[in-house]
Amino acid sequence: MAKDNIILVGYMGAGKTTLGKALAASMGRVFHDLDWLIEERTGKTIPQIFAEQGEDGFRQIERQTLTEAVDEDGLVLAVGGGTPCFFDNIDVMNRRARTVYLQASPETLMAHIRMGGTKRPLVDGKSDSELIEYIRQSLSEREPFYNRANYKVTIDTITDDRQIDGYVDKIKDILKK
Ligand code: S3P
Repeated sequence: MAKDNIILVGYMGAGKTTLGKALAASMGRVFHDLDWLIEERTGKTIPQIFAEQGEDGFRQIERQTLTEAVDEDGLVLAVGGGTPCFFDNIDVMNRRARTVYLQASPETLMAHIRMGGTKRPLVDGKSDSELIEYIRQSLSEREPFYNRANYKVTIDTITDDRQIDGYVDKIKDILKK
């Protein structure tokens, strides 16, 4: 079945990996995170790829890894915050999956980015005021791409597992529609 994959898109810190993992577990599906697939494939971390090959190099590898990942069926896949915004990646995803945009405010995105242990070269080293400004600016450029996803779920700051379960139920409900 061509559209049996589920892909979570959205800005850095929206909760794609956290909710994707929980969603996959609750649906008995395999979970993949595109950044982890990229790291496996290259044997390098995301910051290393950015440092050695620049963002352009990273986007090429990301695109290649995405097209191979969506060749599978029955996955829950969390992609990177930039993935839908380069090449025709959003079309590729919409062809091969039901796509869900996890929409969150700049404040929630910042809280999640600060909470998590993930190293993100695009926001590394920014002060709080620089970070919120960067998020506001790049989110407004990226939203037209995110809004091309098939479904949208609004996410508030996640601080406990109960909220994760609540969002998983919400995503499952929306996918039934
Ligand atoms: C990026 C988001 C990151 C990762 C890379 C670039 C972006 O993924 O792909 O650092 O351009 O927004 P997360 O959204 O999982 O942090």
